[in-house]
Amino acid sequence: MTAPLAEASADTSGPPRDHLGTSNPIRVALLGLGQVGAAVARLAGHTPGRRIEVTGALVRRPAGRNGWPFPLVADPRALLDGRPDVVIEVLGGVEPARSIVLAALERGIPVVTANKSLLARCADELFAAAASSGAPLRYEAAVIPGVPFLCAFAHRPLASRITRLSAILNGTSNFIVSRLSRGSSFEDALGLARERGYAEPDATRDLDGTDAAEKLVILVRQFARVGVRPDRLTRTGIDCLDTQDLHCAAAFGGAIRPVACADWTSAFSAWVGPAFVPEAHPLSRVDGVSNAICLDSPTASAPLVFAGPGAGPEVTAATILDDVLSTGQTKGFVRSTHVITTPPTQHAPARWFVRFRDIGLRFDTRDVSELLSAHDVWIDRWSVEGQPGGDRSRRALTLPCDQRGLDAGLGAVRAATGCNVFAIRALEAPCG
Ligand SMILES: NC(=O)c1ccc[n+]([C@@H]2O[C@H](COP(=O)([O-])OP(=O)(O)OC[C@H]3O[C@@H](n4cnc5c(N)ncnc54)[C@H](OP(=O)(O)O)[C@@H]3O)[C@@H](O)[C@H]2O)c1
Repeated sequence: MTAPLAEASADTSGPPRDHLGTSNPIRVALLGLGQVGAAVARLAGHTPGRRIEVTGALVRRPAGRNGWPFPLVADPRALLDGRPDVVIEVLGGVEPARSIVLAALERGIPVVTANKSLLARCADELFAAAASSGAPLRYEAAVIPGVPFLCAFAHRPLASRITRLSAILNGTSNFIVSRLSRGSSFEDALGLARERGYAEPDATRDLDGTDAAEKLVILVRQFARVGVRPDRLTRTGIDCLDTQDLHCAAAFGGAIRPVACADWTSAFSAWVGPAFVPEAHPLSRVDGVSNAICLDSPTASAPLVFAGPGAGPEVTAATILDDVLSTGQTKGFVRSTHVITTPPTQHAPARWFVRFRDIGLRFDTRDVSELLSAHDVWIDRWSVEGQPGGDRSRRALTLPCDQRGLDAGLGAVRAATGCNVFAIRALEAPCG
């Protein structure tokens, strides 16, 4: 970029933005021509009803990249000055995506994005620009693009009654956890995910929960109208799991899944991490790269469940193009009304799946139960595993308990027995 975008000519004359209802193609400028951008360019000429025409694409290095029927540029002003009907942002990351999207919205150009990192961090600023110019900002493809439910559901009265959501938002980690449950090692499962194109060479953001946390922040803004930064959420990665955890979860009548949860029934709480999911919970059956979301409220007879394929360039591109076709039809998405700057609370009583590894030889499960009970933590079930003199690991499912009590109880067990302790939450099966 050679000059700030704000200095680019801000011509607001030109064709009206309401491009639907005419037979002219919708002219779109593509920010990014990577996996998703290229799929958008390939599919653009084949949309139902109206043709979408790509007028140009922003990339880092345009030189020598021939074969596209539109120019590739390294300066975004060249695209915005062409006054496209819609800007599609698929650059990824925060900058320069933020500056270019702001510049487009300020000129009244509708924007469609699939960039969860951008929305999870800059949504208020972007929606303020969209509200001020009247240009819609659409982001259906940023969260579970294979299940485009956000826009369809967002403005329905039922949406305002939702007070909690639980979801599987990252297909890569769900694939790996599903493989672990079939006996695969973590390394083999990750290797297979890479081989099948489900995981990037650097899959850190998938495995440590960052990707899911960004998506959860977008959902929480949408349904709870709460603004919270992704780094404020409690996050646990899936790399702490082993095959035996998954076997014990099955023996306890459920499964472990990489879950993102938020609850604002009373105090707001939100977290991302592996969780024990009982069989009766819809998420327990979501396998492989699939994604799903359960929306629930205390008054609902049953949760609303949306499930489908996880992200992929083609699926994402199809949803982006659907957003482009609908930019003239509906209003943009909601803005958060309540911004949270302190870490969300996490103290609602819950059941926990706990692993005690290498319990000292002098101790057994009765000793551990007794230490925990002093902190009001009661074990519902112990796993049957390990042999005297062999592996000294045990897993347990607690009854619902306060997290502070659990932390104190596990600290006492750790101090007394020298064992290594690891705990993940258990979801409750929804009523109805
Ligand atoms: N991949 C998926 O299945 C998927 C699914 C849902 C959502 N998304 C989201 O879609 C977005 C794009 O993902 P992707 O997989 O297509 O990414 P990608 O393959 O890395 O492509 C990024 C594109 O943006 C261009 N770009 C990046 N930074 C730039 C800069 N500073 N200046 C100019 N051009 C720049 C790159 O240019 P060069 O070509 O010159 O490198 C490339 O063409 C991300 O926000 C991602 O989270 C992806």
